[in-house]
Amino acid sequence: MPDRHLSERSLVTKRRVIAPGLVTLRFHNPRVARETLAGQFVNVLPKSGFGDPMLRRPFSVYWADENEAEIIVQAHGRGTGILAETREEEMLDILGPLGKPWMYQSSDYATAVLLIGGVGVASMPMLTRALELEEIPVQTFYGARTASLIAKDHLSNLHIATDDGSEGYHGSNVELLRTFLDPLLFKEVAGSMSDHAGGPIESPKIFACGPTAMMRAAQSLAAEFGIPCELSLETEMACGIGICQGCPVQTEESIFLQSGRRFKLVCTEGPSFNAEEIVL
Ligand SMILES: Cc1cc2nc3c(=O)[nH]c(=O)nc-3n(C[C@H](O)[C@H](O)[C@H](O)COP(=O)(O)OP(=O)(O)OC[C@H]3O[C@@H](n4cnc5c(N)ncnc54)[C@H](O)[C@@H]3O)c2cc1C
Ligand code: FES
Repeated sequence: MPDRHLSERSLVTKRRVIAPGLVTLRFHNPRVARETLAGQFVNVLPKSGFGDPMLRRPFSVYWADENEAEIIVQAHGRGTGILAETREEEMLDILGPLGKPWMYQSSDYATAVLLIGGVGVASMPMLTRALELEEIPVQTFYGARTASLIAKDHLSNLHIATDDGSEGYHGSNVELLRTFLDPLLFKEVAGSMSDHAGGPIESPKIFACGPTAMMRAAQSLAAEFGIPCELSLETEMACGIGICQGCPVQTEESIFLQSGRRFKLVCTEGPSFNAEEIVL
């Protein structure tokens, strides 16, 4: 088995609470910090050595520099609940980096549109940095239940949408993005919305991560406007390295007919996929 499948005990050096149940954990792991590309993830055993929970949980690498990397954790079930309570000086057991990076180095677009739903923000700071290094313009559409759940660090050109209207557009980030894609709609709202300066976004590519409903909406918006779109999936996983077959995503019919494959594995063939090749 390749070296990258060896896990490493990693000391938590900083814990930052963004909102109740939403924290970032910074840990010492020079290899993960050095090797992770935007969009890759680590598979984390919350309490190194305790055997509970038994299975690792996958987390996108939120940030990486020099010898340390960060994850952002939304407490959800048992594993993420334990992980979100991790204190500084405790150890995590980290396997990674795993999965494929975002495919941002293509020539089929001029502006990267980052579409974020909730904790789907996790891979976006690294993607923003990678896009800025390539001098590719970025527009970010960040949707959350409420303003306090928004983690703005390392993002750029932010357009916020909240379900409760506590910040930015009152509604979904996909609806908000639509107003930047449709020239008529853009003109219609430009007078009432201060972030609608300049003009509609030209030649975009959508990079989306968030809840399934948002991803489906992104998939159909991209199809409607003929825009390239990548979706990063947060499917439940066990091994994270292609062994257990526990993370399938259904392939679209034409892919099935070409390849004979009804499913792809999110952990090794994703987590991000071309929106046209999968069924959500
Ligand atoms: C690539 C990727 C990146 C992610 N990044 C983030 C992130 O940055 N931040 C974040 O908060 N969340 C992220 N998630 C989601 C996060 O991993 C899930 O919320 C988490 O796995 C759920 O764990 P839990 O302990 O909260 O839930 P629980 O419901 O307690 O446990 C779910 C876990 O049970 C096990 N399990 C359940 N059903 C099965 C099954 N059928 N077969 C095998 N095992 C099973 C798996 O280990 C699964 O992960 C990411 C997910 C993926 C795939
Ligand atoms: S999680 Fe085991 S194969 Fe993907």
